[in-house]
Amino acid sequence: MITVVLGTQWGDEGKGKVIDYLAEDVDIVARYQGGANAGHTVVVNGRQFIFHLVPSGILYPDKVCVIGNGVVIDPVSFLEEVSYLKDNGIDVEGRLFVAENAHITLPYHKLLDQIEDRFRGKGSLGTTGRGIGTTYADKFNRVGIRAVDFLDDDIFRNKLDIALELKNYLFREYYKEKMLNKDKIYEEYKEAREGMKGMVRNTSLYLHDEVEKGRHVLAEGAQGTFLDIDFGTYPYVTASNSISGGACTGLGVSPKKISRIIGVVKAYTTRVGMGPFPTELDGEEGDNLRKTGNEYGATTGRPRRCGWFDSVLVKFACMVNGIDELVMTKLDVLSGQEKIKIGVAYEFGGEIHNDYTFNSKVFSNCSVVYEEMVGWCDDIGRVKEYRHLPANAKKYIERIEQLIEVPISKISVGSSREQTISK
Ligand code: GDP
Ligand code: IMO
Ligand code: MG
Repeated sequence: MITVVLGTQWGDEGKGKVIDYLAEDVDIVARYQGGANAGHTVVVNGRQFIFHLVPSGILYPDKVCVIGNGVVIDPVSFLEEVSYLKDNGIDVEGRLFVAENAHITLPYHKLLDQIEDRFRGKGSLGTTGRGIGTTYADKFNRVGIRAVDFLDDDIFRNKLDIALELKNYLFREYYKEKMLNKDKIYEEYKEAREGMKGMVRNTSLYLHDEVEKGRHVLAEGAQGTFLDIDFGTYPYVTASNSISGGACTGLGVSPKKISRIIGVVKAYTTRVGMGPFPTELDGEEGDNLRKTGNEYGATTGRPRRCGWFDSVLVKFACMVNGIDELVMTKLDVLSGQEKIKIGVAYEFGGEIHNDYTFNSKVFSNCSVVYEEMVGWCDDIGRVKEYRHLPANAKKYIERIEQLIEVPISKISVGSSREQTISK
């Protein structure tokens, strides 16, 4: 059985916390897309861990974690994470696997990502600079290097040769940058290749066998629905399919094996990087949410843009992902707001849009139709049962459920495992 957990907004919904919470009841946690652009925060016993590539279930000593073929892997970042875990008493030996057919991010991917985003000028996306788009571009351009290629001496040298030929031409002739040296990269990555050797395998076969034996797999999404390459606010998106369908191509599992899809939704909205954001709050209101919610990127440290909950977006996310239930996070951050708004439709050129639109003229320039609700003042971080939440908090949750027509099954009121309420 496979359960997919993914983000329903623009990332940073609290997937790390929710996956860690849900992982207790599963056998395997498998990441299916994205790369070291992700930052998934897990807080256990007051200690904070931020995962970029390692799945958020690794803190349980009996869980197996898999990095699927849909993920792009920066070996340096990956091995740093592994050694950080080891230094903190978390042994990953024999229970952390990397797909043979996952693509590898190399120094030229990171360099090109940063240069390209600079060259976009006014159209810059504000990428994380981790070489994500450029690694996926090489994959689709069929000049990528997979984990299995990376480990083989001859194949790695050969593929590096092919990839660098064009990259160096671009660096030299077009971007006026220094060229990269193939032998230097080869030498620099010797240790990383050695470090990854024992972990790389056919994870698709592995997952298939485990599912057949009755094991429960939790497929971990990174980013969020509106950063999805096909369904997000293109071009202000990441380069992979973060939607639930991405779990099949990113792990090599059949859609028939997926039995549950859980969406993680923040009680308000945030976004890092450029791109349209209809319910964004400028000025003091946005600053206050950022401060209370500690909304700073877990990967780049950039301040996150903050705004009200947008039910139009989340409703679309529920549809495109086939979400069965939602976990709402960071409800505690809204405590103390006198009035809370929910975006329920967009207005553009005298027309009301009740649905998310791919028309960027509309989405980038629309005004939002809001519903206003009365807030609550109580600190809810210690509430354990739904019935003990303030009446106005329950009204807020239930109104959102009505608007998006999907049940909210759990509510998170703090970053630690225990601060999770079942409804
Ligand atoms: P992810 O990328 O979806 O895993 O989310 P991030 O880890 O980037 O950002 C979510 C942040 O909110 C992290 O710092 C979490 O520790 C924190 N967090 C998660 N759930 C809650 C919650 O219910 N309340 C509060 N106050 N913080 C939370
Ligand atoms: P998690 O998994 C929020 C954003 C970047 C940028 C755009 C493209 O922690 O939710 P990229 O480096 O992917 O090419 O950048 O996507 N972005 C994220 N925003 N959370 C993330 O991951 C993100 N990963 C990428 O800020 O706007
Ligand atoms: Mg994050």
